[in-house]
Amino acid sequence: MVICRGKGSSLILEQVLTCSKMRLDPFSFFPITNPVAMRKLGGVIADASEPSSVIYLQGDLGAGKTTLVRGFLRSLGYLGHVRSPTFNLFEVYQIKTKVICHFDLYRLTNPEELIYIGISDYFTEKNICLIEWPEHGKGFLQPADLVCKFNFIPGKRGRDVEIIATSSKGRRMLKKIIQKKDV
Ligand SMILES: Nc1ncnc2c1ncn2[C@@H]1O[C@H](COP(=O)(O)OP(=O)(O)OP(=O)(O)O)[C@@H](O)[C@H]1O
Ligand SMILES: [Mg+2]
Repeated sequence: MVICRGKGSSLILEQVLTCSKMRLDPFSFFPITNPVAMRKLGGVIADASEPSSVIYLQGDLGAGKTTLVRGFLRSLGYLGHVRSPTFNLFEVYQIKTKVICHFDLYRLTNPEELIYIGISDYFTEKNICLIEWPEHGKGFLQPADLVCKFNFIPGKRGRDVEIIATSSKGRRMLKKIIQKKDV
């Protein structure tokens, strides 16, 4: 039995579904009304993350992916500026004993280019990789533990973030995220 939480349910009700029977990965929706709350969600994900976690960040331009990464890094203790790695594809942050690799593959025209930047070197047992636009690197990336899908809400300023656990590590992480998230 796996716990799933459905849309709009984060604070209201918890649906318990037998996801394995339905061949669904466990997921949860988080209504994120502003950038501060988006950074907070990033911090909650950081607290739940484990070494070698791979987190895909999917959503349209301006959906809030980098904002979430800023919160993730800040909560681990990084105090510097977090640049969006749109042009150089990635930034690496050494924070105490942790190494966080932040990719933005939006400008990648051919996923094979990832071979030339030595992409496999970044997927280590220690590193945590956060990847914006992972669909542009299809076939050359490590599978995700968590997939975060960012959606605009029609007529509103906030975003909905759906977090899907796609591995056993991801399921442990999602459980912790659900326990800690209070926005
Ligand atoms: N939950 C939110 N509600 C309203 N605005 C938000 C929210 N989260 C982030 N924003 C704002 O949206 C804008 C774009 O955010 P951000 O740069 O993080 O998007 P992105 O998904 O990384 O875009 P890109 O695909 O271009 O890299 C920023 O001005 C940010 O402050
Ligand atoms: Mg971005």
